[in-house]
This record gives sequence, C-alpha cells and structure tokens, in this order.
Amino acid sequence: MSTPRRGRLALAAATLTASAVVAAVAVSAPAQAASTTLGGAAAQTGRYYGAAISPSKLSDSTYAAIAAREFTMITPENEMKMDATEPSQNQFNFTQGDALLTWATQHNIPVRGHTLAWHQQQPGWMQNLSGTALRSALVNHITQVATHYKGKLYAWDVVNEAFADDGQGNRRDSNLQRTGNDWIEVAFKTARAADPNVKLCYNDYNTDGINAKSTAVYNMVKDFKARGVPIDCVGFQSHLNTSVPSDYQANLQRFADLGVEVQITELDVQQGSSQDAIYTAVTKACLAVSACKGITVWGVRDSDSWRTGANPLLFDNSGNKKSAYTSVLNALNASSPTTTPTPTPTPTVTPTPTPTPTPTTTTTPTPTPTTTPTTTPTGGCKVAYSAPNQWPGGFTANVTITNLGSAINGWTLKWTWPSGQTIQQAWSSTATQSGSNVTVTNAAWNGSIAAGGTASFGFNGGFGATNTAPTSFTLNGTLCS
Ligand code: G3I
Repeated sequence: MSTPRRGRLALAAATLTASAVVAAVAVSAPAQAASTTLGGAAAQTGRYYGAAISPSKLSDSTYAAIAAREFTMITPENEMKMDATEPSQNQFNFTQGDALLTWATQHNIPVRGHTLAWHQQQPGWMQNLSGTALRSALVNHITQVATHYKGKLYAWDVVNEAFADDGQGNRRDSNLQRTGNDWIEVAFKTARAADPNVKLCYNDYNTDGINAKSTAVYNMVKDFKARGVPIDCVGFQSHLNTSVPSDYQANLQRFADLGVEVQITELDVQQGSSQDAIYTAVTKACLAVSACKGITVWGVRDSDSWRTGANPLLFDNSGNKKSAYTSVLNALNASSPTTTPTPTPTPTVTPTPTPTPTPTTTTTPTPTPTTTPTTTPTGGCKVAYSAPNQWPGGFTANVTITNLGSAINGWTLKWTWPSGQTIQQAWSSTATQSGSNVTVTNAAWNGSIAAGGTASFGFNGGFGATNTAPTSFTLNGTLCS
C-alpha cells in the first residue's frame, strides 16, 4: 500500500554525526517514510484512510481507479441503509451492498457498514410504524442485516444521529426514540448478538468539538461501558465548513479515554481559503490520538459529494488531486510512527569554545530497511514480507500471503523472528507473540482467500541491534517457504 522512499534516511545520516542523527531522525523520519497514497501514508501509523463509495459509480474508470489506489477503508454511501436493505418489511435486498463488498474484497479493502438504525432513509413501511411494532421491526432489521454481513465488515455504524441539535444534549425526537429511551442499547445488543466480532460504533455530526451534543454522546458511551452494553467505537462525521473546533483533538481524546476506538467517519470541508488547513488539522488530531484508527472522507471527487457546490473533497471533478489532498498526504507522512521507541534526546547546546573545535565525523548507524524477496513456495502458499520503513528501534512491515492451494476460509500465519523483534501493532489482522514466535490471524474481512488469491496485512514492530527479515512461514500449518 505504501510507496516507501528507501534510502532517504541513509543519505541524510551519511552526512551527519551520530548524535545529530538521533535528533535528525525525530525531525526527518517522516520524510523517509513518505508514501504517495493516502492509504499507504495512513498505514505507516497503523491507521486507515477511507472514503464513502457508491457502487453505481465504480463503472466510472476515473472514480474506480482513485478508489482502489488511495483508500484502505470503504463506507457504502447509501447501500446498507435501512431503505436499501429492507425496502419491504421482512424482504431484504443486499444486491447493492453485496456488490460494493465484492468490489472491496477484490481490492483487499475492508468495509465499514453504514448504518443499521437511523431516523432518515427509513423505508416507507417503517416510517408508518410505531411502538412495539416498530421496536420489533428494528430488532429484526438489525438481526437480519448484521447476520447477512457477519464476519465481513470492519465495523457497523449501529445507530446514526440519535441526538438533537438543541444545545441541551437531548435525544432527537424520532419514531425510533418514541419506542423508548433504551432503543439505542437494544440496537447495540442486537447487533452484537448477530455478529460477535464486528466493531459496533455510534456515529453522529456536530459532535466534533466539546459541546452539549458531544457531551451527551460521551455520557451515553460512558454509561454503556459501565453497564456492559457493547460499544466499540464512536464516529465523528466532521462535515465542516470554514473552521474546525479548537478542542477537536481533546474531544477525540476524551472518548478514547473511555476505552472506545474513535474514527473520523464522513469528513468533508467547505472549499475556501481554510480548506487545506482544516483538512490538515483534522488529520493531525487523529494522528495525535492513538485510539483514532482512521479517517473517512465522504466521497471521492467534488462532483460526487452530497454537498453540491461546496467542493468539499480531496479530488476535483476531473479526479485531479487538490491542494487539500497534498495537505492531508503531507500531514500523514509527517507523522512519526506510533511505535517509535527511541526517546529523542534534546541536543545540548554548548557554548562554542574558542578556538572552534573541528566537528568530528562519526560513522552513523544507518538503519537499512530490510526486504525479503517473495519466497519460493514449498507448500500451498507463498509469502512476501517487506519492511519498507525503518527507524532506530522500530519498523513498519507489510505482508502479502498468496494462496497457491484451494480456497481457504480463515487463515493463521506463523513465523519465528530471527533477531528478537516484537510485533507492537498490527492492522488487517490480529497478531500475538510468544517468545519469538508470532501468530497472525485474519481480520473479519480478509479471512477468505480464493485459490490464487492474496490477503495482506501490516504491522509496526520493534527490534534491537538488527532487524533480520523472517524467511520461513507456515500458513494453516503448511510450510510456505
Ligand atoms: O438513487 C435515487 C435516484 O434513483 C433518484 O432518481 C434520486 C432522486 O432524488 O434520488 C436518488 O437517491 C438519493 C441518494 O442520495 C443517492 O443519490 C436520495 O434521494 C438522497 O436523499 C440520498 O442522499 C444521501 C443522504 O445521506 C440521505 O440522507 C446522500 O447520498 C448521502 O451522502 C447522505 O449521507 C449522510 C450519511 O448517511 C449520514 N450523515 C450525513 C450524510 C450526509 O447527509
């Protein structure tokens, strides 16, 4: 996903003294980690960069090319909403949602489900229901839809926009709310019963700073956590105009401190003189909060946006990258890897003695990115392992498994570190380590690998003196190399 620029650090290091390198790494590490795509740049810190996608537009080659190239998470803009999935009561239609999921799976991109329960985009039959009939219909809807997509999604926006904009932090009045104040927790419990592993999110707008509405959501999440109501994540839509709240990052952090993942879920920013700066600020805020796992923009090109005339996205109508795109990419690339274990000593400024001593030239410990070429399979699999980005004590690695046997459904990849490395944070997978033995299992969305197909994941790791790449892997017990 990422496009590393290997060697930039080495070049810089060769011209600096050893002590200067330590300081220089902290400042210049971002440059050597630069990626040329949003998804690749976000992956360097274990995050995703996503977009809302409409499957009907994927026949547009410009649109599809950008989607496949830039994004590492997809949200269906409308196709998994209630009116799309249950147009007639108890008659479900997954055609459009499945089409998007198929495209995403073919491109190895996980999907955020959006949304199981919302006061808008309800099918007509539901709009006319109330009371226990509506509550039962809601539970049935969530059960059927979450069951259909069980094990196939990264997350669900279980409930969308349930709080009012009244400055009081009240719930929004709606037919769902009128079924009883517990409708939200019933929705979350129902979703959990249907899909035990998908992340369950609450999603809303105008919650991007600390205000009455976001505080009401905060209190609900806090209460859910205290009472064991399942909730894993909170989405902050971030439909922004000409400013971003100054406490945007602090707001994300207070939710993170409750023990939930936070995600920017529908970002778009009114075009104008502050568009680039706002995109940059949002990117930096997410990068500064370790529980902020990703950013999704609400569309691809300006012409794809629901905000007609606002031109709020990262690509213009022709699919060209806007300056806002460059701002986001630079902000992502400028972020230090989250696992950098090397504390950066502040260089001591010493009064210059007279005469000025000749600076010593010291051989610098240049970290050399390790890359293992694709290994020759001896079983039904081959594994391509690369560590394109490395800094003192830490590195990012990408792994692609190719299934050379018959289709598999669920995979476990194992290897043993040759030089005592540690996995610290994995994405698109779950990783554990015992001693030097690593076990990585598939994420919910990439467990199925067709014959000849691939699955990819990545991680940040740590190392001591050397970072020797592993060369021997087993996939579901079969030796790959
Ligand atoms: O597909 C029909 C088309 O057949 C018909 O000719 C046309 C006539 O109006 O309508 C088309 O459907 C529209 C649909 O978008 C697809 O373009 C709907 O009318 C329109 O209401 C719908 O708007 C969506 C909106 O949610 C509905 O509330 C936007 O695309 C979508 O971007 C927007 O997304 C929401 C998030 O889900 C939640 N947060 C806010 C965000 C922006 O409103």
